[in-house]
Amino acid sequence: MKLDANLTIPQPPEAPSQAGLQFAVATEEDFDEIMAMSQDIYGGLDYLPTRYTSWLQETNRLVILARKEGKVIALESACVIDDGETLLVEGLRVAPQERGKGVAGVLLRFCSELIKSKYPDVKVSRLTRDDQLGPKDFEKYRIITKQGILLVRFRAEELKLHLGQMMQTEGVRSSVSTRQAPPPPVRLDQTAIHQLYLSTELMQRVLPNATIIQDWQPFKLLPSNLAILLKKDIDWMVDDVCSPTVASLCTFPFKVPIGDDWYYLNIDMFGKDLDLAQQQFLCHLQQHTASLKGHVMCQIFLDPGLWRPMADFCQNTLNVELVKEYTEQCVVESDLL
Ligand SMILES: CC(C)(COP(=O)(O)OP(=O)(O)OC[C@H]1O[C@@H](n2cnc3c(N)ncnc32)[C@H](O)[C@@H]1OP(=O)(O)O)[C@@H](O)C(=O)NCCC(=O)NCCS
Repeated sequence: MKLDANLTIPQPPEAPSQAGLQFAVATEEDFDEIMAMSQDIYGGLDYLPTRYTSWLQETNRLVILARKEGKVIALESACVIDDGETLLVEGLRVAPQERGKGVAGVLLRFCSELIKSKYPDVKVSRLTRDDQLGPKDFEKYRIITKQGILLVRFRAEELKLHLGQMMQTEGVRSSVSTRQAPPPPVRLDQTAIHQLYLSTELMQRVLPNATIIQDWQPFKLLPSNLAILLKKDIDWMVDDVCSPTVASLCTFPFKVPIGDDWYYLNIDMFGKDLDLAQQQFLCHLQQHTASLKGHVMCQIFLDPGLWRPMADFCQNTLNVELVKEYTEQCVVESDLL
């Protein structure tokens, strides 16, 4: 069901402390106002500017704004996935001057009510958090899975050069070594993705809690979710289609507001084998630095145990800069009561 901007949104009956809030479905015209209140978000790495227009087109998604005295002060996106059973909450933000007053809580509850009334089959709400969860959160949520987040920064042209040199040295080394290098990873096309992820149970032991997490979004292994994922520009890779140990999904580089020639590359990596994870990471980097010019922030989501050795590999072998120490993304779920 597509909700349009003319929809009459019922205003919340409770929330006396937020009596002055009005709720509306976001439109193209709201873009500048939303960006104005989002300036400090994610240290300049906000994905919303590149996602906003497509979010408004998605038939299974609502983008809801809260206004105070006519001014946009908060946003939340609610997306229905998992065959209509899960509400995925994304993009939540409150204008800096309005934080700490309960606005996010009111908006979240309002969106849940709205989704329940439009999509009665929705049973749970899921979201991904990268901040420290407190005792109150643990009462509210079940943890579905956790992935370490490795954030590195480099100039595309420099890394391309360095990767070229590394490949030459590796070529010389393998020609004189008896060590068997693993075969190159396989890039999957749509047929192969369907075959591997849906027709077999092979990915269940590779994915954390049988969940594909792509760019912060958790999806169960269902045809309807794969249809959503296959509309996106993603490179899908696996070490071996018959017996997969490591799989990865990499976004195409997209612009972020931190600067004019800054791009973001997001790699979700599943599995615990370090050599295979490094090999796929290198393939994604080669693929995307081939024609890219400018600064790149690359975020790799991976098994927590791989974080340290992968960080060492990035710093010592790839000579790229580590932006942050260990953080993690936590996929959480609560019942939609
Ligand atoms: C995180 C943020 C939205 C909280 O806004 P706020 O109005 O100050 O929050 P509130 O005063 O309503 O209190 C927090 C409520 O929001 C929830 N909350 C806090 N952070 C959250 C998050 N990242 N995702 C979902 N819910 C969150 C809390 O669990 C709490 O819910 P409760 O009312 O059921 O207890 C706000 O600080 C912000 O915009 N930060 C920058 C953007 C950001 O980090 N967004 C998180 C995206 S994952």
